Amino acid sequence: MSNTDKIVLTGIKPTGMPHLGNYIGALKPLIEQAKTNKTFMFIADLHALNSIHDSNMIKQHTYEIAAMLIALGLNLDNAILFRQSDIDEIYQLNTLLMNVTPKGLMNRAHSYKAAMDKNIANGDDVDAGVNMGLYTYPILMTADILLYNSDIVPVGADQKQHVEFARDIAGYFNHTYGDTFKMPEPVIGHDTGLVPGLDGRKMSKSYDNTIALFAPEKELKKKIMRIITDSKAPEDAKNPDESTIYQLYKHFASQSEIAEFAEMFRAGGMGYGTAKTILFDKINAVLAGPRAEYERLMANTAEIDAILADGAKRAKAIATETLARVKKAMLG
Ligand code: TRP
Repeated sequence: MSNTDKIVLTGIKPTGMPHLGNYIGALKPLIEQAKTNKTFMFIADLHALNSIHDSNMIKQHTYEIAAMLIALGLNLDNAILFRQSDIDEIYQLNTLLMNVTPKGLMNRAHSYKAAMDKNIANGDDVDAGVNMGLYTYPILMTADILLYNSDIVPVGADQKQHVEFARDIAGYFNHTYGDTFKMPEPVIGHDTGLVPGLDGRKMSKSYDNTIALFAPEKELKKKIMRIITDSKAPEDAKNPDESTIYQLYKHFASQSEIAEFAEMFRAGGMGYGTAKTILFDKINAVLAGPRAEYERLMANTAEIDAILADGAKRAKAIATETLARVKKAMLG
């Protein structure tokens, strides 16, 4: 099988607008890969349910993720974009897979262990605040991966264990019932290097140093102007590799622009204020089009609904086939 024949699948939890770090590290490469590969891309609203209990919020965030992917130019011929909860077969496969999943496997899940550790540290009951949605999260994720016959599952490093669990569970199933599922491969991030946030540390929600992907122009500018720099004077020569401004610029500019910008750092004579303005102009030029399209879609959610409905129809055709195969294997 050549690489482009492989079925790619990934889910994105609707918990808010991604930031530039997510865009550079995950979304951009995914959208690139979807130009050549059949891709299942869904909004994992069922996975958000263990933490978000407000239906309006889930619905709103679901629109945001869908609009974002469409606005970034996701190829909707190769990519099947849908809402996880629209496919009834997922709930069914989840129930069926429960029966070949050892409880001990769930006990080892990093996310569950992190919740327990926090409780222990606080002197609470180990399972305080842990619902079964959180505890069985990896089974639902396995169902996502197996339902659509995925070969490749691009995920962040924090999700790698879940894809390994999917392989384990597929293995237990195949061992018990005969060859039914393909073995999915986790693919962990592309080597995009560190994407620094406003304070120079890795851009991350937990550091509160992010720039939202579709921040309105004014906010984008404000954030960029707030990037922390050292105290070199404009005339001083600067090392671009030590500068957050340059590190961000690299992900948006062409090779020749990047080389030119690096030279301006090294030569001295460019102050950080000027460098920030150059960075802002570049990011804004790249994102202004998608941002306008995003805003247009968010004001026309019926259009998003139509795209998601079409995706659901295409995803369901595959899901029906897989589920029939599994039911036959398990129930005769
Ligand atoms: N758990 C993933 C996350 O939190 C989202 C997700 C749900 C997913 N189902 C998936 C990712 C299946 C890859 C494959 O980011």
